[in-house]
Amino acid sequence: MSKRIPLSEPFFFGKEKDYVRDAIESTWISGSGKYLEKFESSIGEITDSPYVVACMNGTSALHLALTAAGVKSGDEVLAPTLTFISSINSILYSKASPVFFDSDEFFNIDQNKVINFLENNCEQKNGETFNKRTGKRVAAIIVVHVWGNACNFEKLIKICKEGNILIIEDAAESLGTRYTSGDFKGKHTGTIGDFGCISFNGNKIITAGVGGAVLTASENSFKKVDYLSKQAKDDSFNYVHNEMGFNYRLSNINAALGLAQAENLKAILVKKNEIHNLYKKYFKDNEKFKVMDTPDYAQNNNWLNILKVLNGNKDATLKKLNDSGIEARPIWKLCHEQEYLKHFEVIEITNAIEQVNSCICLPSSIGLNEEDIKFISGVINE
Ligand SMILES: Cc1ncc(COP(=O)(O)O)c(C=O)c1O
Repeated sequence: MSKRIPLSEPFFFGKEKDYVRDAIESTWISGSGKYLEKFESSIGEITDSPYVVACMNGTSALHLALTAAGVKSGDEVLAPTLTFISSINSILYSKASPVFFDSDEFFNIDQNKVINFLENNCEQKNGETFNKRTGKRVAAIIVVHVWGNACNFEKLIKICKEGNILIIEDAAESLGTRYTSGDFKGKHTGTIGDFGCISFNGNKIITAGVGGAVLTASENSFKKVDYLSKQAKDDSFNYVHNEMGFNYRLSNINAALGLAQAENLKAILVKKNEIHNLYKKYFKDNEKFKVMDTPDYAQNNNWLNILKVLNGNKDATLKKLNDSGIEARPIWKLCHEQEYLKHFEVIEITNAIEQVNSCICLPSSIGLNEEDIKFISGVINE
C-alpha cells in the first residue's frame, strides 16, 4: 500500500512560524494585539468587507451573528438540511428553532422552495414574518455556501427584506469564492446578507489553527458583534456588563497563523483550481462517476471536490478508496435526520436525500500532485 492521502490537510509555506513566534515573544497572546488587527484587515481586503470581527471559530461566528441579528427564544430560523452541524447548533444556542429545507443542484439551500414556503406557509404582521402553522416569528435565514459553491439566493433577498428576515451567510467554507454574474457580480460570498461567517479551522482553505470571523457592512452590527465577542463589557475598569456576552475573541497567536495563511491565499486558490481540473480530466471518460460542477455564476475556491457515484455503488467506492489509504468520506448526514433534531419542521426534502445517497468527498489538499490524482482516480476507475 502506498502513502495515506488525507481529505484536507493544512500547508504552511509562508511566514507562519515567524509570525507565531513573534506573537509569543511580544507577550500579546490573548484577545488583542497587532496580529489580530492585521488579520482582520487582511480578511476585510480579501472579501471587500468594511467590518470584520475575528472570533474563536466558525461556530461562534454564527452564534454571534444570530445574537446580533436579534434572534431569540421562540423564533424560527430557516436553514438547509445539508450543512455541517454548526449551522444548526448555532440556532439552538440562540434558543430558536430551525426549519429545514432542501438543496439545489449545487448542494446549497433551494431558494425556490424557501420562497414557496414564505409565500404560502407564512404571513406578515407589523412588518414581520410569522409561520402560520407554528405562529412563530421567522427571524432569519442561514444560507450556506457549501464546499465553496456560491449559493444562489438572488430572488430570496427581496422577499426576506420585505418580511424583515435577516440573512446570515455561512461562508465557513467559501473564502475566495466570488460571484461573476447576476445581481451579486463581483461580490465575495459572505458580504451580501446582513452577516457573513467564515471558519479558519485546520481543514479550511486557510487556517488559523482554530478561528472564525464575522463580516458585516453595517457599523452598528459590527459594534454589536465586537461587543458581544468580548463579554459585553460596558466599563472594563469597573467590570460593568449590561447584557450577556461571550468570550469568543480569537487569540493574537491564532491570528498570527491566520495572517500568514491569508498571505498565501492567492497561491492556494491557483492550486485548488488545478486539482479540480485534474479530477475532471481523470474522470471524464468514466460514465459511472461525475466530478460535480461548480456554479457557472461564480469563481469557485474549489475547497473540496465532490464525486457523484452514478451506479449506486457509493459505499463500495468509499470502502475501496479507504482500503487503498485514500481518505474519502460520505457527505454530511442530513441535519433533519439527526436524532436530536428530528422534531423540527421539515419542508419537502428530496434532492438532499439523493445527494447524500450518491455523493462522496474526495481528497482535496493543496499538497496533491497529478500523480496523486491519477492514483485516486485510478483506484476508482479500475
Ligand atoms: C458549513 C460550515 N459551517 C460552520 C462551520 C463551523 O466552523 P468551525 O469548525 O470553525 O466552528 C464549518 C466548519 O467546520 C462548516 O463547514
